[in-house]
Amino acid sequence: MDKFVIQGGRPLNGAVNISGAKNATLELMPAALLAPGVYRLTNTPNIRDVWTMSRLMASMGAHAELNDDELFLDTSNITVLEAPYDHVKKMRASIHVLGPLLARYGYAKVSLPGGCAWGPRPVDFHLKGLERLGAEITLEGGYIIARAERLRGAHVAFDIASVGATFNIMAAATLARGVTTITNAAMEPEVTAAGRFLQKMGAQIGGLGTSTITIEGVDELKPADEETIPDRIETGTLLTAIAITGGRGTLRRTNPYHLAFVLEKLEDVGCEIDIHADEITLAAPDQLKPVDITTAVYPGFPTDMQAQWMALMACANGTSVVTDAIYKDRFTHVPELGRLGCDIHVNDNSATIRGGKKLTGATVMSTDLRGSVAMVLAALVADGVTEVLRIYHLDRGYERLEQRLGCLGALIRREKTEEM
Ligand code: EPZ
Repeated sequence: MDKFVIQGGRPLNGAVNISGAKNATLELMPAALLAPGVYRLTNTPNIRDVWTMSRLMASMGAHAELNDDELFLDTSNITVLEAPYDHVKKMRASIHVLGPLLARYGYAKVSLPGGCAWGPRPVDFHLKGLERLGAEITLEGGYIIARAERLRGAHVAFDIASVGATFNIMAAATLARGVTTITNAAMEPEVTAAGRFLQKMGAQIGGLGTSTITIEGVDELKPADEETIPDRIETGTLLTAIAITGGRGTLRRTNPYHLAFVLEKLEDVGCEIDIHADEITLAAPDQLKPVDITTAVYPGFPTDMQAQWMALMACANGTSVVTDAIYKDRFTHVPELGRLGCDIHVNDNSATIRGGKKLTGATVMSTDLRGSVAMVLAALVADGVTEVLRIYHLDRGYERLEQRLGCLGALIRREKTEEM
């Protein structure tokens, strides 16, 4: 397993490019199961989750090959309609194959995802939505078995605007007979990007980017090519790295519109933000102001930026409160941040951060993708050397993070460890 060794204390300055969005790619790839053929997805990030999805689709008979940032996908010969436990346990987004397989082939057998680092991750919205579309769903031995001669259009309403469930129902509805309306649909840019890709494939979809999406089913779709949208969470993470270290930097090939709320909060903290087309420049203030956040569905403050914000607030001049209204227990990173000197107390789904304490380097253990990157951010300002272990969590969603941060002046290197 690899670890990061980080020497804190250097302000980050300079410019780096942003990669394609992990969470868009993890919808575009399974969408290709809806129409047999060859696809080219450009601006695809070279990260572990893309490898995992590629391996899952290869186990079904697809061919996936990433050259630089161009993903070649061939779904002409899908013969296995299953997502086995050993894939799904590695990545919850494996469940995104459920809707496409069921719509295209009338059958899917997908392992129930377990929990994740911070707790249970139910899939009841996915299953209820597919049943509304006429699927017969049974649970056997930890697997979802879904069957349908042909799905039929229906009205599907979500209690919570679920990203994954919106994708699964939207994708399945493209080949259903009749019209499907999804109310309280997720509006995340990644869902909108998947909907646009499906339209390119011939799907009839209206309302993308709003909370009501309508899909008029067609008899068949055709392959299409697509350029993946930039990763808004990588953008927010690197902006936070520049802010926490007191630097000035520019992120290129991104989309400021996809994280407007985060940019506003960074300005509230005292950062100067300049937008120029697909570039964001941030100049950090001498003193960071404490700013409370509560996570929400898009376009609110993303839960995937909650841990990073906590690290930033640990360096602010005062006390702030971070509340996660999406995942009430997404706080496994707090004890590890505490080892670096962050003064954070969690009560229910809120954390109180007393900023301004001196951070000192230590050895910390990655917990999950975003929790681990919060430890990296704190390590960038801690006195001395920090070792962040088990960074395979990080490699799931950040492409060569040490190179990006190194480009901006961070003293960070990747090392192998004996740990298995
Ligand atoms: C997506 O997960 C993202 N993953 C997550 O990013 C992100 O944190 C999450 O959306 C919220 O924005 C991908 O896109 C691959 P949800 P997803 O369904 O689709 C509850 C990262 O770091 N819920 O929108 O699984 C759920 O428990 C990852 O990149 C149900 O109750 O999230 C949560 O409280 C981590 N029943 C809320 O809805 C369901 O059937 C939102 O979950 C589905 C969800």
